[in-house]
Amino acid sequence: MADDWANSGLDLLVVLDPRHKVQSLERALRDAIDDGSLRAGTRLPSSRALAADLGIARNSVVEVYERLLGEGRLEARVGSGTRVRERLASASASSGALVNRSTRFELDLRGGLPDASAFPRSAWLAAMRQALAEASSASLGYGPPEGVAPLRAALAEYLARARGVRVQADDVIVTHGFGELLGLVARAIAARGGRRIAVEAYGHASHREVLQAAGLEPVPLAVDAEGADVARLHDSGVDAVLLTPAHQFPTGVPLSSARRTALAEWAMTAGGIVIEDDYDGEFRFDGRSIGAFQSLAPDATVYGGTASKALSPAVGIGWGVVPPVLRDEVLAARRRTGAATDAIGQAALAVLIGSGGYDRSVRTLRTRYRARRERFEARLADGAPDARVLGLAAGIHCLLELPDGVREADVVAAGAARGLRFDGLAAYAADAATASSRPATMVVGFGAPPDLRFEQAVAAVIAAIDAAR
Ligand SMILES: Cc1ncc(COP(=O)(O)O)c(C=O)c1O
Repeated sequence: MADDWANSGLDLLVVLDPRHKVQSLERALRDAIDDGSLRAGTRLPSSRALAADLGIARNSVVEVYERLLGEGRLEARVGSGTRVRERLASASASSGALVNRSTRFELDLRGGLPDASAFPRSAWLAAMRQALAEASSASLGYGPPEGVAPLRAALAEYLARARGVRVQADDVIVTHGFGELLGLVARAIAARGGRRIAVEAYGHASHREVLQAAGLEPVPLAVDAEGADVARLHDSGVDAVLLTPAHQFPTGVPLSSARRTALAEWAMTAGGIVIEDDYDGEFRFDGRSIGAFQSLAPDATVYGGTASKALSPAVGIGWGVVPPVLRDEVLAARRRTGAATDAIGQAALAVLIGSGGYDRSVRTLRTRYRARRERFEARLADGAPDARVLGLAAGIHCLLELPDGVREADVVAAGAARGLRFDGLAAYAADAATASSRPATMVVGFGAPPDLRFEQAVAAVIAAIDAAR
């Protein structure tokens, strides 16, 4: 067993035809090399170990290896065994295409992306280590659909303290990001007979798609300098509304306090549900943080948040504070999807929040993003003084109103030619009327590029505008 396939650290699915074992082994290995499942440099098990694993004669495996060596798919070096050859594997169509796709856009300035290079690796590693060291065996089985108890308690404490949410641990449901929460809540609303949901006229198309997939019809609400026009909820006949009250995405305006009051009145008098997407509420730079809307109407509001900004989308954890009226339906919807959030990651996040590490990450990033926003404004004032930076001093994106006569599509194309990926505001519009209602404007996510490439990204934005003039 010293050198079998499993002990070599690799696992490869080889389905052999029992009547033609040797030929099917040869075909399986050749296909796996060609389609990239076996990567360049991968060391194959010894012929003896593979023969024993597959129940065929060792000589047969030696012959297969020799044929693949002869074809140039494998290489054999004394002392390092038989490996997949470099040249062929890297020339395979699929891996080549992947490299091209990911290297085409070197700078990603799409709205909403955080700086992945800022992920607090050591703090997360320490939290993971502690969580695993302390985990009972039972906690490593299938966890409860609402999330693990330590994380729900840690989130309740954090959200009450940092965002003013009215919450007990029992109200918290942990999900795979805000995206999953939105889908579950939408299905719960539809299951209660809901049909229409108001959405801000600008937002993520993917969120509108999630609502539609759950059977709800999105109804756009105009967005102006006070945020979404919630006065229209009364006669719009909607059952619910999805909003980003702290920092409208992507226009960057907060919902005014008069509109927050009006929204709470609508929810309470019309029996409507408010889904509050508090995706970057922690990142306000002007010291005038507004708490979550949820505290004004806790029985009618689903508050949603995510670890995607303060940590990373790779953590894959979001949360909802769900009022009793929807809780059973949301959990039932989750059971029906068969999904569950990774229990070890949840335990680690509970440790991180409990140790103050999550707060530290928020504070570090707030400082970093504030500095970037200021630098972006200063560089634009120099490099493109006739373009206007708009949106609250908050979050990780802003709007850039283009100089007269410059079109969004031309700036997108000029940016792409410079390896820059970003979108015009029209790409976020819920309908054609909204898309043509404002002057040409870009949505610029200044969060994603690592510090080292930030200046290059800003220079590329300015160059793209100049090229589109
Ligand atoms: C407006 C908005 N809401 C929510 C999210 C978070 O989504 P998730 O938790 O699914 O990563 C994002 C992320 O980009 C966002 O831009």
